[in-house]
Amino acid sequence: MRSAIVLAAGKGTRMKSSLCKVMHQCADKPMIGHIITTLKKADVDKIVVVVGHGADAVKEYLQDEVTYALQSPQLGTGHAVMQADCLKDCDGDTIVLNGDGPCIQSETIEKAFAANETHDLTVLSAVLDDGGNYGRIVREASGQVKKIVEAKDCTAQEKTITEINTGLFVFKTKALFEGLKELTNDNAQKEYYITDLVEIFNRKGLSTNALIVDDRDELMGVNDRVDLAKAEAWMKKHINHKHMLNGVTLIDWKNTYIGADVEIGEDTIIYPNVVIYGKSKIGKNVQILPNSFLKDAQIGDDAVIDASKVVDSQVDAQTTVGPMSHLRNHTHIHAHCRIGNFVEFKNTDFNDGSKCAHLTYIGDSEFGKDINVGCGVVTVNYDGKNKHRTVVKDGAFIGSNCNLIAPVTIGENALLAAGSTITDSVDDGDMGIARARQSNKKGFGTKYKNK
Ligand code: UD1
Ligand code: CA
Repeated sequence: MRSAIVLAAGKGTRMKSSLCKVMHQCADKPMIGHIITTLKKADVDKIVVVVGHGADAVKEYLQDEVTYALQSPQLGTGHAVMQADCLKDCDGDTIVLNGDGPCIQSETIEKAFAANETHDLTVLSAVLDDGGNYGRIVREASGQVKKIVEAKDCTAQEKTITEINTGLFVFKTKALFEGLKELTNDNAQKEYYITDLVEIFNRKGLSTNALIVDDRDELMGVNDRVDLAKAEAWMKKHINHKHMLNGVTLIDWKNTYIGADVEIGEDTIIYPNVVIYGKSKIGKNVQILPNSFLKDAQIGDDAVIDASKVVDSQVDAQTTVGPMSHLRNHTHIHAHCRIGNFVEFKNTDFNDGSKCAHLTYIGDSEFGKDINVGCGVVTVNYDGKNKHRTVVKDGAFIGSNCNLIAPVTIGENALLAAGSTITDSVDDGDMGIARARQSNKKGFGTKYKNK
């Protein structure tokens, strides 16, 4: 069986934030969220997240997806692992990883488990130009891993070692919990270090191993906002390359921001400066033009989104939206529609073939099929206290600059004369007109001009 312990109790002082470190977002998802998704992808049966600082925020986010162990006070990474003793009787292997390493991929986790098949402990290491603040991997002349020394505890000679501890370990679960009994806090920070288990395992005659990873950036730890930006950049490249290899054109992938959970179909083209976040699902052959923002958006095949914002809303096949439109709050624009320039839709169902092309607000409404909404139409849905619904049936024609004072229903194939303020429902096939009759004053124009 595969278990996992994710260390996420630390405060993350260097982030200088009221938010606990592992809840900081990278590619539109808290760091801890990326790690849990990845562990699940690698078939880990049981995940224990060690929480402390910001425990409530982490629990609220992950809910019952994982088991929690509380670490309070926080006395180091080894002490954190001790709190996950609900795993101590499990068979198989346990992976231990830091909650501040969001870029780790499931293939690497698979490799780590595989590497530990013939060992009791495997640590993933990386070779850097400069070991910085990372723990150093100290090897015997034979190459055998001897111990890990934290940067703060290094001798001058150890400091020059460039092979570092990424913070990811796999242990034989039972050996892990036996080994933890021997940990002490005899070091510069007076903490219980997980890294001391290497020496302890060696002393006990158990087999230890260090596996050097190829992409050292995948295992970076985020300690401050500069690191967070590096992780964001790594993830953007990884996510965007995946979409490109799946048949999506990103005209300028460095200026395209796609969240980790977004799905995009083949032959879709995404222009620069587009953001697609949340659980958005984009169909095939869609065009998303510059400066669009989509969050939790469902976009059908062959649709066009032009410099618009679509949040919590759906746009069906072959519909065009924008430029400069805003669809929000469970709006559903069906197929073959045309929306925008400068149109706002809120909580509205707008059916096949209907058009609303200019300067309009439609809220809390239900529009049928093949309706034409003229320029400057407003559904007056709010009376200052309550919201009311507007219903417009198939084939209706709403003249420009009409106000529809809700609640109101406009019948099938009905017509509203331009400039009307409609307070009463209009039956099928009828016309509603509500405006003062025009009168023309003979010669008044010239007289006024010459005055
Ligand atoms: C740790 C390693 C170091 C390694 C580096 C890789 C130790 C002693 N050091 O150092 O060798 O190179 O990671 O990034 O393990 N945490 C707890 N409880 C605690 C302390 C920490 O849950 O009491 C969690 C933190 O929330 C964090 C993770 O453990 O997610 C790592 O802690 P951090 O303080 O960042 O360790 P580093 O100094 O980076
Ligand atoms: Ca760290």
